[in-house]
Amino acid sequence: MEQRIALVTGANRGIGFEVCRQLAQVGLAVILTSRNETEGKQAAAELAQEGLPVHYYPLDVNEPTSIEQLGTYLHADVGRVDVLVNNAGVFLDEPTDQALTARVETFERTFLTNVFGPLRLAQTLIPLMQRQKYGRVVHVSSGAGQLSDMLSGYPAYRMSKTALNSLTRMLAYEVRGTGILVNSMCPGWVKTAMGGPDAPRTPAEGADTVLWLATLPEDGPTGGFFRNREPIPW
Ligand SMILES: NC(=O)c1ccc[n+]([C@@H]2O[C@H](COP(=O)([O-])OP(=O)(O)OC[C@H]3O[C@@H](n4cnc5c(N)ncnc54)[C@H](OP(=O)(O)O)[C@@H]3O)[C@@H](O)[C@H]2O)c1
Repeated sequence: MEQRIALVTGANRGIGFEVCRQLAQVGLAVILTSRNETEGKQAAAELAQEGLPVHYYPLDVNEPTSIEQLGTYLHADVGRVDVLVNNAGVFLDEPTDQALTARVETFERTFLTNVFGPLRLAQTLIPLMQRQKYGRVVHVSSGAGQLSDMLSGYPAYRMSKTALNSLTRMLAYEVRGTGILVNSMCPGWVKTAMGGPDAPRTPAEGADTVLWLATLPEDGPTGGFFRNREPIPW
Protein backbone atom coordinates (compact mmCIF):
# COMPACT_ATOMS: atom_id res chain seq x y z
CA MET A 1 0.00 0.00 0.00
CA GLU A 2 1.17 3.53 -0.79
CA GLN A 3 2.04 5.75 2.15
CA ARG A 4 -0.98 7.73 3.31
CA ILE A 5 -0.82 11.48 2.84
CA ALA A 6 -2.22 14.04 5.28
CA LEU A 7 -2.76 17.73 4.67
CA VAL A 8 -2.99 20.13 7.63
CA THR A 9 -4.02 23.80 7.35
CA GLY A 10 -2.63 26.59 9.53
CA ALA A 11 0.23 24.37 10.63
CA ASN A 12 3.12 26.81 11.08
CA ARG A 13 2.37 26.99 14.80
CA GLY A 14 0.02 25.95 17.59
CA ILE A 15 -2.19 22.90 17.40
CA GLY A 16 -1.74 22.45 13.64
CA PHE A 17 2.02 22.13 14.02
CA GLU A 18 1.60 19.43 16.68
CA VAL A 19 -0.95 17.64 14.52
CA CYS A 20 1.68 17.44 11.76
CA ARG A 21 4.24 16.02 14.18
CA GLN A 22 1.86 13.40 15.57
CA LEU A 23 0.57 12.29 12.15
CA ALA A 24 4.12 11.96 10.84
CA GLN A 25 5.15 10.04 13.96
CA VAL A 26 2.57 7.34 13.16
CA GLY A 27 3.86 7.05 9.58
CA LEU A 28 1.81 9.40 7.43
CA ALA A 29 3.52 11.67 4.93
CA VAL A 30 2.44 15.14 5.99
CA ILE A 31 1.93 18.25 3.88
CA LEU A 32 2.29 21.11 6.36
CA THR A 33 0.59 24.21 4.98
CA SER A 34 0.56 27.83 6.05
CA ARG A 35 -0.08 31.23 4.52
CA ASN A 36 3.28 32.57 5.67
CA GLU A 37 5.85 30.80 3.54
CA THR A 38 8.90 31.56 5.69
CA GLU A 39 7.23 30.32 8.87
CA GLY A 40 5.76 27.28 7.17
CA LYS A 41 9.06 26.21 5.64
CA GLN A 42 10.78 26.71 8.97
CA ALA A 43 8.13 24.61 10.77
CA ALA A 44 8.39 21.80 8.20
CA ALA A 45 12.20 21.89 8.41
CA GLU A 46 12.03 21.57 12.20
CA LEU A 47 9.93 18.40 11.91
CA ALA A 48 12.05 17.05 9.06
CA GLN A 49 15.09 17.46 11.32
CA GLU A 50 13.35 15.12 13.76
CA GLY A 51 13.41 12.55 10.94
CA LEU A 52 9.72 12.99 10.15
CA PRO A 53 8.26 12.90 6.60
CA VAL A 54 6.92 16.47 6.54
CA HIS A 55 6.86 18.80 3.52
CA TYR A 56 5.66 22.35 3.08
CA TYR A 57 3.09 23.73 0.68
CA PRO A 58 1.74 27.32 0.73
CA LEU A 59 -1.96 27.74 1.50
CA ASP A 60 -4.04 30.73 2.50
CA VAL A 61 -7.50 29.32 3.19
CA ASN A 62 -9.05 32.77 2.61
CA GLU A 63 -7.91 32.76 -1.02
CA PRO A 64 -9.82 30.62 -3.53
CA THR A 65 -6.88 30.74 -5.96
CA SER A 66 -4.55 29.41 -3.27
CA ILE A 67 -6.92 26.48 -2.65
CA GLU A 68 -7.20 25.88 -6.41
CA GLN A 69 -3.39 25.74 -6.73
CA LEU A 70 -3.22 23.24 -3.89
CA GLY A 71 -5.97 21.20 -5.56
CA THR A 72 -4.06 21.10 -8.85
CA TYR A 73 -0.87 20.06 -7.03
CA LEU A 74 -2.64 17.23 -5.19
CA HIS A 75 -4.73 16.03 -8.13
CA ALA A 76 -2.02 16.28 -10.82
CA ASP A 77 1.34 15.89 -9.05
CA VAL A 78 0.70 13.92 -5.85
CA GLY A 79 -2.33 11.97 -7.03
CA ARG A 80 -3.86 11.33 -3.63
CA VAL A 81 -4.76 12.75 -0.25
CA ASP A 82 -5.95 10.56 2.58
CA VAL A 83 -6.41 12.97 5.47
CA LEU A 84 -7.57 16.58 5.54
CA VAL A 85 -7.27 18.46 8.83
CA ASN A 86 -9.08 21.80 8.64
CA ASN A 87 -7.26 23.44 11.54
CA ALA A 88 -6.58 27.04 10.42
CA GLY A 89 -8.73 29.43 12.41
CA VAL A 90 -9.09 33.00 13.60
CA PHE A 91 -10.60 34.55 16.69
CA LEU A 92 -11.37 38.18 15.84
CA ASP A 93 -14.02 39.17 18.38
CA GLU A 94 -13.42 41.96 20.87
CA PRO A 95 -13.96 40.95 24.53
CA THR A 96 -17.08 43.12 24.71
CA ASP A 97 -18.65 41.86 21.46
CA GLN A 98 -22.23 40.63 21.63
CA ALA A 99 -24.41 39.35 18.79
CA LEU A 100 -26.63 42.39 19.19
CA THR A 101 -23.85 44.94 18.76
CA ALA A 102 -20.77 43.35 17.10
CA ARG A 103 -19.72 44.53 13.65
CA VAL A 104 -21.07 42.29 10.90
CA GLU A 105 -17.66 42.62 9.21
CA THR A 106 -16.16 40.63 12.10
CA PHE A 107 -18.56 37.78 11.34
CA GLU A 108 -17.74 37.96 7.61
CA ARG A 109 -13.97 37.85 8.16
CA THR A 110 -14.27 35.06 10.72
CA PHE A 111 -16.48 32.96 8.45
CA LEU A 112 -14.09 33.43 5.53
CA THR A 113 -11.34 31.57 7.41
CA ASN A 114 -13.22 29.30 9.82
CA VAL A 115 -16.06 28.16 7.55
CA PHE A 116 -15.57 29.01 3.87
CA GLY A 117 -11.92 27.84 3.95
CA PRO A 118 -12.89 24.36 5.20
CA LEU A 119 -15.84 24.30 2.79
CA ARG A 120 -13.68 25.11 -0.23
CA LEU A 121 -11.01 22.62 0.84
CA ALA A 122 -13.59 19.88 1.31
CA GLN A 123 -15.04 20.58 -2.14
CA THR A 124 -11.55 20.48 -3.65
CA LEU A 125 -10.06 17.47 -1.86
CA ILE A 126 -12.95 15.11 -1.09
CA PRO A 127 -13.34 14.20 -4.81
CA LEU A 128 -9.80 12.75 -4.63
CA MET A 129 -10.80 10.78 -1.53
CA GLN A 130 -13.89 9.53 -3.33
CA ARG A 131 -11.68 8.19 -6.13
CA GLN A 132 -9.56 6.37 -3.57
CA LYS A 133 -12.61 5.22 -1.57
CA TYR A 134 -10.74 6.35 1.54
CA GLY A 135 -10.58 9.60 3.46
CA ARG A 136 -10.54 11.10 6.94
CA VAL A 137 -11.65 14.70 7.33
CA VAL A 138 -11.16 16.37 10.71
CA HIS A 139 -12.58 19.77 11.56
CA VAL A 140 -10.85 21.52 14.44
CA SER A 141 -13.91 23.10 16.00
CA SER A 142 -14.55 24.33 19.52
CA GLY A 143 -16.87 23.86 22.47
CA ALA A 144 -17.64 27.54 21.86
CA GLY A 145 -19.77 26.38 18.93
CA GLN A 146 -21.94 24.02 20.99
CA LEU A 147 -25.62 24.97 20.67
CA SER A 148 -26.34 22.97 23.82
CA ASP A 149 -24.29 25.50 25.80
CA MET A 150 -24.81 28.67 23.73
CA LEU A 151 -25.12 31.84 25.78
CA SER A 152 -23.16 34.81 24.42
CA GLY A 153 -19.65 36.27 24.11
CA TYR A 154 -17.30 36.20 21.08
CA PRO A 155 -20.33 35.76 18.78
CA ALA A 156 -18.49 35.60 15.45
CA TYR A 157 -16.14 32.85 16.64
CA ARG A 158 -18.99 30.89 18.24
CA MET A 159 -21.22 31.13 15.20
CA SER A 160 -18.37 30.12 12.87
CA LYS A 161 -17.68 26.94 14.85
CA THR A 162 -21.39 26.06 14.95
CA ALA A 163 -21.42 26.49 11.15
CA LEU A 164 -18.28 24.35 10.84
CA ASN A 165 -20.03 21.61 12.83
CA SER A 166 -23.00 21.87 10.48
CA LEU A 167 -20.60 21.35 7.56
CA THR A 168 -19.27 18.23 9.31
CA ARG A 169 -22.78 16.79 9.55
CA MET A 170 -23.66 17.49 5.92
CA LEU A 171 -20.39 16.20 4.47
CA ALA A 172 -20.54 13.05 6.60
CA TYR A 173 -24.03 12.36 5.28
CA GLU A 174 -23.16 13.10 1.66
CA VAL A 175 -20.14 10.73 1.64
CA ARG A 176 -21.59 8.00 3.85
CA GLY A 177 -20.66 4.46 2.82
CA THR A 178 -17.76 5.56 0.59
CA GLY A 179 -14.86 4.96 2.99
CA ILE A 180 -14.69 8.63 4.00
CA LEU A 181 -15.26 9.64 7.62
CA VAL A 182 -15.87 13.28 8.59
CA ASN A 183 -15.79 14.49 12.18
CA SER A 184 -15.50 17.61 14.33
CA MET A 185 -13.42 17.87 17.46
CA CYS A 186 -12.68 20.35 20.25
CA PRO A 187 -9.05 20.44 21.43
CA GLY A 188 -9.93 21.88 24.84
CA TRP A 189 -8.38 25.12 26.06
CA VAL A 190 -4.84 25.04 24.66
CA LYS A 191 -1.79 27.22 25.28
CA THR A 192 -1.26 28.80 21.83
CA ALA A 193 -1.35 32.32 20.41
CA MET A 194 -5.14 31.95 20.29
CA GLY A 195 -5.64 30.16 23.62
CA GLY A 196 -3.28 32.45 25.55
CA PRO A 197 -0.70 31.72 28.25
CA ASP A 198 -3.20 30.69 30.96
CA ALA A 199 -4.61 27.72 29.04
CA PRO A 200 -4.04 24.42 30.86
CA ARG A 201 -3.40 22.15 27.87
CA THR A 202 -0.32 21.77 25.69
CA PRO A 203 -0.65 21.86 21.89
CA ALA A 204 0.32 18.16 21.90
CA GLU A 205 -2.62 17.35 24.20
CA GLY A 206 -4.89 19.46 22.00
CA ALA A 207 -3.74 17.58 18.90
CA ASP A 208 -4.38 14.09 20.30
CA THR A 209 -8.06 13.78 19.30
CA VAL A 210 -7.19 15.01 15.80
CA LEU A 211 -4.66 12.19 15.51
CA TRP A 212 -7.30 9.68 16.63
CA LEU A 213 -9.93 10.93 14.16
CA ALA A 214 -7.41 11.18 11.31
CA THR A 215 -6.45 7.52 11.71
CA LEU A 216 -9.85 5.97 12.46
CA PRO A 217 -10.43 2.41 11.26
CA GLU A 218 -12.99 1.69 8.54
CA ASP A 219 -15.79 1.17 11.07
CA GLY A 220 -14.95 4.35 13.02
CA PRO A 221 -17.49 7.07 13.76
CA THR A 222 -18.54 9.71 11.25
CA GLY A 223 -20.60 12.87 11.60
CA GLY A 224 -19.65 13.21 15.29
CA PHE A 225 -18.23 15.84 17.64
CA PHE A 226 -15.46 14.75 20.05
CA ARG A 227 -13.19 15.95 22.82
CA ASN A 228 -10.63 13.70 24.55
CA ARG A 229 -11.62 10.96 22.08
CA GLU A 230 -15.17 10.96 23.52
CA PRO A 231 -18.42 12.22 21.95
CA ILE A 232 -19.69 15.61 23.15
CA PRO A 233 -23.07 17.30 22.52
CA TRP A 234 -23.54 19.60 19.51
N1 LIG B 1 -6.24 27.29 21.53
C1 LIG B 1 -7.41 26.93 21.98
O1 LIG B 1 -7.67 26.97 23.19
C2 LIG B 1 -8.48 26.45 21.03
C3 LIG B 1 -9.68 25.99 21.58
C4 LIG B 1 -10.66 25.51 20.72
C5 LIG B 1 -10.44 25.47 19.36
N2 LIG B 1 -9.25 25.94 18.85
C6 LIG B 1 -9.08 25.88 17.39
O2 LIG B 1 -7.84 25.26 17.08
C7 LIG B 1 -7.38 25.71 15.80
C8 LIG B 1 -5.91 26.07 15.89
O3 LIG B 1 -5.78 27.17 16.76
P1 LIG B 1 -4.51 27.43 17.69
O4 LIG B 1 -4.98 27.44 19.08
O5 LIG B 1 -3.40 26.52 17.30
O6 LIG B 1 -4.23 28.95 17.31
P2 LIG B 1 -3.02 29.71 16.64
O7 LIG B 1 -1.72 29.37 17.26
O8 LIG B 1 -3.48 31.13 16.60
O9 LIG B 1 -2.99 29.12 15.16
C9 LIG B 1 -3.92 29.45 14.19
C10 LIG B 1 -3.35 29.02 12.87
O10 LIG B 1 -4.32 29.32 11.84
C11 LIG B 1 -3.61 29.96 10.80
N3 LIG B 1 -4.46 30.77 9.94
C12 LIG B 1 -5.27 31.81 10.25
N4 LIG B 1 -5.83 32.31 9.15
C13 LIG B 1 -5.36 31.57 8.10
C14 LIG B 1 -5.55 31.62 6.70
N5 LIG B 1 -6.33 32.52 6.13
N6 LIG B 1 -4.92 30.69 5.94
C15 LIG B 1 -4.10 29.77 6.49
N7 LIG B 1 -3.85 29.70 7.81
C16 LIG B 1 -4.48 30.60 8.60
C17 LIG B 1 -2.56 30.81 11.51
O11 LIG B 1 -1.59 31.25 10.60
P3 LIG B 1 -0.76 32.63 10.83
O12 LIG B 1 0.39 32.27 11.73
O13 LIG B 1 -0.33 33.01 9.45
O14 LIG B 1 -1.70 33.62 11.47
C18 LIG B 1 -2.06 29.78 12.51
O15 LIG B 1 -1.17 28.89 11.90
C19 LIG B 1 -8.30 26.86 15.40
O16 LIG B 1 -9.25 26.41 14.45
C20 LIG B 1 -8.99 27.23 16.71
O17 LIG B 1 -10.25 27.82 16.50
C21 LIG B 1 -8.27 26.42 19.65
